[in-house]
Amino acid sequence: MIICSCQAISDRDIHQAIDWMRAADETAIITPGKIYHALGKAPDCGGCMKLFVSSMRSNANLEVPVELRGLREVCKAKQVIA
Ligand code: FES
Repeated sequence: MIICSCQAISDRDIHQAIDWMRAADETAIITPGKIYHALGKAPDCGGCMKLFVSSMRSNANLEVPVELRGLREVCKAKQVIA
């Protein structure tokens, strides 16, 4: 199914890009911008973002790596101490 009609990106393209990026770097934070870049494209109108992100979230490889989870709380705690 086509997700981004401006750039003719399908849900399959998105999943393949996510799987490729996760295989290349298991600690990568995967964003829509990185997916566009990996596909050699750039977003145009942005009208697809809600569906684009929804498609991303359906991929099990999108999860934030365990060692990077909870960093926001660590940063807040450091600000309180400082
Ligand atoms: S539909 Fe994706 S950028 Fe326009």
